[in-house]
Amino acid sequence: VKVTYISTDGTETDMDVAEGTSLMQAAVSSGLDGVIGECGGSAMCATCHVYVDASFLEKLPAIDDMEEEMLECTSSDRRPTSRLSCQIESNSDIDGIRVTFPETQV
Ligand code: FES
Repeated sequence: VKVTYISTDGTETDMDVAEGTSLMQAAVSSGLDGVIGECGGSAMCATCHVYVDASFLEKLPAIDDMEEEMLECTSSDRRPTSRLSCQIESNSDIDGIRVTFPETQV
């Protein structure tokens, strides 16, 4: 599944993310510094905040209560396209998705 990560300076990194892997895990294990993923993916830290390409928003699972609460505590502004990347699992529906890292996670 192709995922493009865009850093704040506009650098794009294309990755092939295995199905079932979260976009947070993939970014962290490849050493991208746009997300931290402090809580390890349990929707408890909000340091994996990303802005999702609007055309993919509806293909993602709905925001649950935990994610909603964490999105209220992101360091960078929450936008309509804000999601926690640990709650986005790679699957064929989101092939080609583009996510942008926020200014800061802390
Ligand atoms: Fe902590 Fe996503 S990794 S909320």
